[in-house]
Amino acid sequence: MPLTGRHLVGLRDLSGSEITAILDDAARLRAQVRAHGPLTELGGKVVALLFLEPSTRTRSSFTTAAFKLGAQVLPFDAKTSSTAKGESLLDTARTVVAAGADALVVRHKQVGSPHYLAGRVDVPVINAGDGINEHPTQGLLDALTLRDALGGLEGRTIAIVGDIRHSRVARSNCHALPKLGAKVLLAGPGTLCPPEMKALGVEVRPRIDDVLGEADAVMLLRIQRERIGGAMLPSIAEYRRYYGLDSARLAKRPELVVLHPAPMNRGVEVAHEVADSHQSHVFKQMENGVFVRMAVYRRALEAR
Ligand code: CP
Repeated sequence: MPLTGRHLVGLRDLSGSEITAILDDAARLRAQVRAHGPLTELGGKVVALLFLEPSTRTRSSFTTAAFKLGAQVLPFDAKTSSTAKGESLLDTARTVVAAGADALVVRHKQVGSPHYLAGRVDVPVINAGDGINEHPTQGLLDALTLRDALGGLEGRTIAIVGDIRHSRVARSNCHALPKLGAKVLLAGPGTLCPPEMKALGVEVRPRIDDVLGEADAVMLLRIQRERIGGAMLPSIAEYRRYYGLDSARLAKRPELVVLHPAPMNRGVEVAHEVADSHQSHVFKQMENGVFVRMAVYRRALEAR
């Protein structure tokens, strides 16, 4: 099956070898760009970033990734677009395709919105986060960062701690990491880390101290205040006590690799000194995001 000309709506439907091919391409692009500067192979292509939810990292790295391949980015601002007048997502997507977009990158609060568009527009659709469902390029950049830090994922144990229920990042990682040979352990409050997550083929444990001893890496998740109802969370102090990574916990695991998709709630799920420690790979994740998204653009656009 060709790797190019395709949508990327989630990691659930990709095989381990397809994921590995994207990671290998991202690593090649990283070496090439660092040695020789930006590329021009997508010159003449236009990508539209339809972000209907807030973003700093994902939007800026999809933008930089396009520039580093010679593609143009069609300006789109949800607040000043006709979506603010009630235009549907599909009509907005069709409009930017009619205006010349060769690919759509979509972030939307509605689960399944990129999948819906992918069957209805004649250009590749890339999911930049659909509600609580998936965030596939985040899952890919996490996998690349872990692969770099650990020298590979086969036989490694990765813990994901926090608000799993509302985390599209956790879902994409749970779909990807086991296909790359890693074991995934989840931990979080029962209301935010429900036992049904086991259906993803991962283990669920009660607290951060139940996973840290065994993990090669830990991914801390943000408490998503915007998606959580009031009764789902104990107090912030209690959350920090049972699920937060502080310097005392980190000191027991000097080799532990620490990830966070960000934005971080410093002082809640991650202490300031942990976020800024040499064990934190948070800003490497962001750097890798650019190269993963370059590889995803190539996969989507190169053969078209
Ligand atoms: N990790 C992530 O998706 O961050 P943004 O919401 O800033 O894009």
